[in-house]
Amino acid sequence: MSRVLTGIQSSGKPHLGNLLGAISPAIELAESQSEPAYFFIADLHALTSIRDPSQLQGNTYAVGATWLACGLNPDKHVFFRQSDVPEVTELAWYLSCLTPYPMLANSHSFKEKSANLAEVSAGLFTYPVLMAADILLYQAELVPVGKDQKQHLEITRDIAGAFNRTYGETFKLPEPVFREEVMVLPGIDGRKMSKSYDNTLDVLGDLDELHKRVKRIVTDPTPVAAPKDPEKCTVFRLYASVAPAAAVEEMRQRYLAGGYGYGQAKEALFEALRERFAPQREAYREWRSDPSALERVLQIGAEKARSTAVQTLGRVRQAIGLLSLSKPTLS
Ligand code: TYM
Repeated sequence: MSRVLTGIQSSGKPHLGNLLGAISPAIELAESQSEPAYFFIADLHALTSIRDPSQLQGNTYAVGATWLACGLNPDKHVFFRQSDVPEVTELAWYLSCLTPYPMLANSHSFKEKSANLAEVSAGLFTYPVLMAADILLYQAELVPVGKDQKQHLEITRDIAGAFNRTYGETFKLPEPVFREEVMVLPGIDGRKMSKSYDNTLDVLGDLDELHKRVKRIVTDPTPVAAPKDPEKCTVFRLYASVAPAAAVEEMRQRYLAGGYGYGQAKEALFEALRERFAPQREAYREWRSDPSALERVLQIGAEKARSTAVQTLGRVRQAIGLLSLSKPTLS
């Protein structure tokens, strides 16, 4: 039985890509293991893009409420806020001293922004090291993530390997777990759905807003009467990710036959999103209206997470030669 771990940045409200690419598969995987899983809100990572304190706090609660609304059981699993376990930043420093510059210079998270270097902070550059620390601190074995995080997991394994070779076997090498059928979910402009592109669908929020966003999905100018290629259409791809298989097949045939407009497909998509996430939307609303209940859940999770973190960090400090014999150990 393996330890499952994953995190979501609180850089915005969680969107459909986060739900289908990470949250739902992570909860399913966690339920199939007897070990408690580790799930967290990556608010330290969000600092690479958010500088407004109240926005950060609001997003953190939005991410927390989403996990709980999607069925995470905080009594069984360890659910916490990244910044409540400061040991992670200490481990990130130790790991950064073993991380070669070119590895970070090649990472997508840096390359995407590197056209304007003046805007790249040291935090953004070392983002993958903090992510490696998140995973290694808790000795995670399975990390369910969307395909966009593949490279970050490779970097984590490389750093863990370098540490083990240098200081002796200390870290487990984590395996990523991808859900093939979700791959990278497109946003309303057809690019990867991402908070940083403002192309997301917030499926747990206000339905009128969601309806407006669905109507804005970019489509090609093929006339209603003409046959259409479902695989090239963002509306169809999104529908295929949420609707039952028989309904998806029906829509595919309508596309191929012609006489079916993108407007009709968008309405079908909106209905599918409304229905599929109705229970989660209600639970989300309840958690959002009670931040102190959410805070209590996070504090209990932080205590559990810290006790694991302190143990790992004690071993790490010993391995790298930071503990003198006269100093007390951390545990
Ligand atoms: P973040 O917050 O960008 O995304 C959270 C999770 O959602 C998945 N995801 C998607 N999946 C499919 N299609 C999409 N369009 C899409 N957009 C996002 C992501 O792959 C991810 O699994 N660095 C991470 C957060 C993190 C983390 C960690 C994850 C920090 N530490 C340790 C795992 C383990 C991130 O930015 O995810």
